[in-house]
Amino acid sequence: MRSRIGFLFIVLLVVTSAYAVAQQDAAAPAGAAKITLDGGFIGNVPFPHHLHQKSAGDCKACHQLYPQEKGVIGSLKETGKLKKQQVMNSQCISCHKENQTAGKPAGPTQCNKCHQRS
Ligand code: HEC
Ligand code: HEC
Ligand code: HEC
Repeated sequence: MRSRIGFLFIVLLVVTSAYAVAQQDAAAPAGAAKITLDGGFIGNVPFPHHLHQKSAGDCKACHQLYPQEKGVIGSLKETGKLKKQQVMNSQCISCHKENQTAGKPAGPTQCNKCHQRS
């Protein structure tokens, strides 16, 4: 009898913690599916955000450098905490090049494939 109650208790614990984890995932704000980044004078950069959440796997791949906020790259560049083209070089192009070299699906590395003149 005692062990049965113990067993039920463990089952309950597992179920509730699994539920908590599921809730957490559902609550994690994924942000916009598509974001237009300010690309300076050579044109803005359309960025498929959710596609990258799938392909990069980890939010930290990008958000270790800047928080999960709209327009944050622009404000960090204004205050000098990010250099111009730092995100572009250290993240966008660098990851695309790495994947290209490894023969994996990759994004563009040419200027005009990212920067769109309107
Ligand atoms: C490949 C890079 C990359 C990855 C991976 C990534 N993000 Fe982002 N995220 C960005 C960029 C770029 C912005 C826009 C920043 C700006 O507007 O200056 C952004 C903005 C956001 C924003 C705020 C803007 C909005 O749409 O509300 C949220 C929230 C966010 N990301 C959540 C996440 C979460 C959660 C993950 C992981 C599941 C993730 N991101 C993975 C690059 C990425
Ligand atoms: C994979 C996409 C991508 C490619 C390829 C790319 N860029 Fe960018 N570029 C960005 C993003 C995103 C930003 C904004 C973030 C930043 O400044 O790091 C940017 C910003 C810039 C800026 C503005 C910086 C500022 O703050 O004024 C210039 C200028 C620029 N890129 C030029 C180029 C040139 C020239 C090339 C080709 C040699 C190029 N980019 C290739 C994505 C790209
Ligand atoms: C951690 C790796 C990684 C980073 C960082 C990254 N990308 Fe990508 N990107 C990819 C991969 C992988 C693909 C190809 C996805 C696919 O085809 O399924 C891709 C595809 C793309 C595409 C093409 C989408 C399409 O529909 O074909 C664009 C545009 C793009 N990335 C822009 C950017 C910009 C702008 C940044 C920086 C803000 C960036 N990427 C940062 C890995 C990355």
